[in-house]
Amino acid sequence: MEKKIAPGIYYIGADDKELDLFEGQYILPEGISYNSYLILDEKIAIMDTIDARKTNEWLENLEEQLGGKTPDYLVVHHMEPDHSSNVKLIVEKYPNIKLVCSQKAVAMIKRFFGLELDSDRLIIVGDGSKLDLGEHTLQFFTAPMVHWPEVVVSYDLTEQILFSADGFGKFGALSYDDPEGWACEARRYYFNIVGKYGNMVQTLLKKLNGLDIKKICPLHGPILDSDLDYYINTYNTWSSYAPEDKGIFIAYCSLHGNTEEAALKLASILKSDSSEKVAISDLRRDDMAEAIEDAFRYDRLVLAAPTYDGGVMPIMEDFMNHLKIKNFQNRKVAFIENGTWAPASGKKMREFMSALKGIEIIDPLVTVESTVKPKTVEDLKVLAEALLAG
Ligand code: FEO
Repeated sequence: MEKKIAPGIYYIGADDKELDLFEGQYILPEGISYNSYLILDEKIAIMDTIDARKTNEWLENLEEQLGGKTPDYLVVHHMEPDHSSNVKLIVEKYPNIKLVCSQKAVAMIKRFFGLELDSDRLIIVGDGSKLDLGEHTLQFFTAPMVHWPEVVVSYDLTEQILFSADGFGKFGALSYDDPEGWACEARRYYFNIVGKYGNMVQTLLKKLNGLDIKKICPLHGPILDSDLDYYINTYNTWSSYAPEDKGIFIAYCSLHGNTEEAALKLASILKSDSSEKVAISDLRRDDMAEAIEDAFRYDRLVLAAPTYDGGVMPIMEDFMNHLKIKNFQNRKVAFIENGTWAPASGKKMREFMSALKGIEIIDPLVTVESTVKPKTVEDLKVLAEALLAG
């Protein structure tokens, strides 16, 4: 990782390759980075702290770049602990430092640390506020719910760099050269962490619309310094709940393998009958966060689940609940159910998904009666036809 990002701007964050679950729920196959930056100018600004897990490494990076100088400001873009854990430490280490943050962050600083700072140690920023550092001037924009209510982003008018908080972030340590590029793990990050607040992301994108952005420095993942239209347009697609790609995503679970057989058979029919992209996930074993990501990515979704205790197999209920929580909408959805004495999962899944915004149901509902039979295959072919026509 190159430490110098632009004249006077340095990376001082750290990778975390040991953490297994981010936010206690998202697997990290290749770790994550907690990004933090330092602007060395007539006035010196630390741009966020990092997670307590990496305090020592961060402090070493900070002190190395400071070279004995004293920082004037700590800019707090976001108060979630993966970025703000060291706010109190910095306030105590540098008794004259001023915190630059939103009004909402002030209340959170008190809640997290019991800190009640005098007004002369606080600079409250809102939309359009500017902070003059000398050569560099930071302009602030509020970004509520991207990803917490207190979030602000800042734009360095001199170097045309956007400090985007969680926005444009990605799972994966910076030392890991992701062969899948930015989008795969950025998409999993976006839909699972920020996805519920698409409207707020849209509001932020509109605020940033007039800026000439040359680089984006997020709080996780790589610094983006070329083809920025691609990243901004991708965020526009994701946050507007539009499908990113044409394709069919099949999410299934199965008790004894029969629903699985039907789901795999549907995938094979779709693949043999078309060149459409078909993705499939076994909800029992695959990463739920990746299944969420794929549900948002494609324009059509098939849910396949057996009946269980008169309802839907619980892992499918869990998946649908995740979709609801993340504001899943504007997609076409089809169903495969299974049941031996009283199939009910199709009706239950349909009721649940129909209540979400902009969901169009693709018929027919395919019912597997205990096992896949020639009649089931015929029904799956009819469903495949309907999906491909959608
Ligand atoms: Fe990376 Fe919302 O914290």
